[in-house]
Amino acid sequence: MRIDVLTLFPGAFGGTLDTSILGRARAAGLFTVHFTDIRDFATDKHRSVDDYPFGGGQGMVMRADVLDAALSHAVALAGEPPTVVALTPQGEVLTDALVRELAKQPRLVLVCGRYEGMDERFLEHRVDREISIGDYVLTGGELPAMVLIDSVARHIPGVLGDEQSPEDESFADGLLEHPQYTRPAEYNGWEVPSVLLGGNHAAIEAWRAEQRLERTRARRPGGAAARLLARVHSRSCSRCCNGAALRSCRANVCW
Ligand SMILES: C[S@@+](CC[C@H](N)C(=O)[O-])C[C@H]1O[C@@H](n2cnc3c(N)ncnc32)[C@H](O)[C@@H]1O
Repeated sequence: MRIDVLTLFPGAFGGTLDTSILGRARAAGLFTVHFTDIRDFATDKHRSVDDYPFGGGQGMVMRADVLDAALSHAVALAGEPPTVVALTPQGEVLTDALVRELAKQPRLVLVCGRYEGMDERFLEHRVDREISIGDYVLTGGELPAMVLIDSVARHIPGVLGDEQSPEDESFADGLLEHPQYTRPAEYNGWEVPSVLLGGNHAAIEAWRAEQRLERTRARRPGGAAARLLARVHSRSCSRCCNGAALRSCRANVCW
């Protein structure tokens, strides 16, 4: 996969993209990241990339003409037509499903905003998707772009070294992962659940399955998680309540 990033601060990405799994994956050529400095496309002597908002108000807005020129330059750097993503707090919220969809694209262009954001005409005419990393506001799109790159890269074959790994994580099937423990088995009076130490793999799997359901029910109640839990229950919970009404589940994993 090729990722182009349009930013006013290319230097902000170094530590994250050069370190550990992402650094190794890039060095191995599993994905590449290329930067376009938006300021290089300013046309006035002050190299301005922003201007006052029409209609008044606080702050400055990134200019559509400068963004347009920077994007055209980045798109032309490779033959593959990209999916153009603008990071904005008003976009669709990044989820595991969206990450997986983006990971299938051969090429992404990520546009990072600053100040009060980007002129709406650029978003309307040049951007395929607006994506937010959550309902809060950051000072710029660089951290969101790094979040997106990290989450997408994990789904590129070879990046994690083990193709199965993303499928064992939280959200892969809509459920949260079970809790994890490692040595020492007892520390400071804090004990590991005894089932994990007994070597009974069937019992361990059953315990983990119940933990996943219970955690998801407690930490992600309602909406899609509730529907998924009901489905998982009807498929796999006959052991505890034998297909009885959800509310009567004896293992207390249903509601
Ligand atoms: C201060 S924010 C602009 C916020 C905008 N005025 C608003 O109220 O919707 C500046 C830039 O940071 C980035 N940004 C901030 N929060 C974000 C979020 N939650 N997800 C994605 N990008 C975000 C975007 O690129 C945005 O253009």
